[in-house]
Amino acid sequence: MSDSKIDILLLGAGGREHALLTKLAESPRAGKLWVAPGNGGMYAIAERAGINQNSPVEVADFARKQGIGLVVIGPEAPLVEGVADAVRSAGVACFGPNASAARMEGSKKFAKQVMARAGVPTAAWRSFTDEQSCADYVKRIGGPCVVKADGLAAGKGVIVASTTDEALDGVHECFSGHFGEAGSTVVIEETLEGPECSLLALTDGHTLVPLATSQDHKRALDGDKGPNTGGMGVYSPVPLVTDEELSAMIAIEQRVVDELNSEGITYSGCLYGGFMLTKDGPKVLEFNARFGDPETQVVLPRMRGDLLEAFLACDNGTLSPDMVSWDDDWAVSVVLTSAGYPGKYETGKPITGIENAEKLEGVTVYHAGTALSDDGQLVTAGGRVLDVTAVADTFDDARKQAYAACDLINFEGKTFRHDIGMKAILGRQNL
Ligand code: AMP
Ligand code: GLY
Repeated sequence: MSDSKIDILLLGAGGREHALLTKLAESPRAGKLWVAPGNGGMYAIAERAGINQNSPVEVADFARKQGIGLVVIGPEAPLVEGVADAVRSAGVACFGPNASAARMEGSKKFAKQVMARAGVPTAAWRSFTDEQSCADYVKRIGGPCVVKADGLAAGKGVIVASTTDEALDGVHECFSGHFGEAGSTVVIEETLEGPECSLLALTDGHTLVPLATSQDHKRALDGDKGPNTGGMGVYSPVPLVTDEELSAMIAIEQRVVDELNSEGITYSGCLYGGFMLTKDGPKVLEFNARFGDPETQVVLPRMRGDLLEAFLACDNGTLSPDMVSWDDDWAVSVVLTSAGYPGKYETGKPITGIENAEKLEGVTVYHAGTALSDDGQLVTAGGRVLDVTAVADTFDDARKQAYAACDLINFEGKTFRHDIGMKAILGRQNL
């Protein structure tokens, strides 16, 4: 194995990318770090590349001209746009699937078809390209059901409808162009029940290396009330997952990678399985073609191993299970948001207290919606502002440290959920 330094370009601007950058920077082989676009926290250790992260040409040109050794793609949009294809064609290593494989996230219908061919358990479904036949079908099966825009809709294209009327409203919303092109095909699914669990896995297209389980909290308010958000908090591992369920989830992801392979598609990067642990075993809710946000912010701090080497191995087909190991510890991450999120909120509010929070044992604060003002002051720049993460030997300590750290950080409008991790404590019977 070579020990030469590798310059890295990381695409993205969220807490996920700050966690990825932090872990990559720990590698002895990490050279100069570049980000596009990055955020207020990432600029402390990386330089801005000043390119459009969704442009295959701009990213590939920059990588070639700057002598970048690895491009890491955080969000889904550049993957679906074919940025990984362009980077690889330019002869540069890339972490993230090519566009054909990223359809596992970019088209729910495509993902469902692959799952059917791979014999993977998922909710029963039908897809439609016109509103009338879709609405007729919904009336026939009746609510509850789940309505999904086929394409990327920034996490907003899923309507879990409890009544037929709600489902019909969702169908209309999709076909009326609310989600743009993403809603021109609509998938109607049966509603599954059970606790949710995310399983991220690294893969080089053949070998699959599962990472630790985690559980996101998607709703805005305590008790899973309020609208869906990009994630309000997360913990890892998920104690209620049985060994049998974990094996089933890993086998499902391996089957998908193998199925794609047999169809001539190499899936290399992170495969994110969103599962529901039903009474008939784990069933797939969705696949994402990238690391989860905020799941990454609790999974990576617990991971032992050189992430840079693992990413290179995903790209060149040499991934092996011994590249990753886990300590017997726990991580809890609480998202601090701007008041009003996921609706309207203000930005530009000065942020203080992060240094003090990070003095607490086991605490790391990942930046999401932050920026540096012209005079260098750290300010809020988005709905989800900071991911306050604590790692400890026990779940209780991780949770206490994360919340103690949240209290030390201040900005006008700071809002957060107070019950992140309660599901782990209450267990399965209370879900
Ligand atoms: P997705 O963006 O596909 O992860 O969906 C967002 C959320 O909708 C999931 O995390 C689940 O809580 C819920 N969801 C999606 N599909 C189903 C389903 N078939 N049954 C019940 N809930 C679902
Ligand atoms: N945590 C949900 C996602 O990354 O899509």
